[in-house]
Amino acid sequence: MKEEILKIEEASQNSIKECEDIKLLNELKVKNKKKKGELTAVLRTMGKLSPEERPVIGSLVNQVRDKLTLLFEQKEKELQKKELLKKLETENIDVTEPSKKITLGSLHPITQIINEVEEIFLGMGYEIADGPEVEKAIYNFDKLNTPPDHPARDIQDTFYITEDILLRSQTSPVQARVMENQKPPIKIICPGAVYRSDSVDATHSPVFHQVEGLVVDKDISMTDLKGTLEMFAKKCLGENTKIRFRPHHFPFTEPSAEADVSCFVCGGKGCRVCKGEGWIELLGCGMVHPNVLKNCGIDPEEYSGFAFGFGVERIAMAKFGIEDMRLLFENDVRFLKQF
Ligand code: DAH
Repeated sequence: MKEEILKIEEASQNSIKECEDIKLLNELKVKNKKKKGELTAVLRTMGKLSPEERPVIGSLVNQVRDKLTLLFEQKEKELQKKELLKKLETENIDVTEPSKKITLGSLHPITQIINEVEEIFLGMGYEIADGPEVEKAIYNFDKLNTPPDHPARDIQDTFYITEDILLRSQTSPVQARVMENQKPPIKIICPGAVYRSDSVDATHSPVFHQVEGLVVDKDISMTDLKGTLEMFAKKCLGENTKIRFRPHHFPFTEPSAEADVSCFVCGGKGCRVCKGEGWIELLGCGMVHPNVLKNCGIDPEEYSGFAFGFGVERIAMAKFGIEDMRLLFENDVRFLKQF
């Protein structure tokens, strides 16, 4: 029986050694382990042996098994290595070839301006507020002291979803939402998209972006508004920027004004960017109307505030020298890559 075992060992060793294919090796391994494997067959006949012989043969079978297992492992590693080398030889990579360029995108000019504006106002202690683009008419108009017969409410000007729900035509409704939810002191800006039923041309788009600003506290006056906007203009458009106010009308502010900035391209002499005016119209602003404060649960006897709102596209166009607003929405990479 001992001879038989050693014969099996030799035969197995030889077939392992000769094997040059990992798949065949696996088959061999499976065959060896099976119940019908040759060593197992030998063990089955152990009953015929004398009690003295049994442990001797038993331990021999175990030794042979361990040896073969080790051989299988070694051969497996060897074949894996060979396969890898073959692969490396046939699929070699030329590391001197130029690689494919990974092109990184850049932030959209509108996003860049919004980020910059946020930085400036965060630096002045403001918080960033947010509001829905699909808005209730009551926030977009009524609470902002904008009566039902106001032209902005016309179906020609505003995208209505139902009679009471619309795409916000301005970021001003966020003022009302913040005032309802927060006690003064309030100091927020809110950047976001707004929608108006305008046809597309070089200076109009049915969707554009605004930044709204609102400050409500005790003893807030027009001086605070002027100082804040002047600081913002200098930081955003350059230290030498001057600001001027023209009287205007907005339903939600009293008094109301429009603010212009001196042209930061020509410094006020007149050029293409300011269309020879020396000034660029920047924003609408004013002191929050007492009715608006009341509508939002704030006592106008105790508190006052200022607000402002401006178009982001206009600033982006002036700052980057973009002459057609459509370029900002067409998403042509050749255009966007420049910023
Ligand atoms: N919402 C106004 C508009 O879209 C801009 C504006 C004007 C906002 C005066 C204000 C403001 O907060 O006080 O034309």
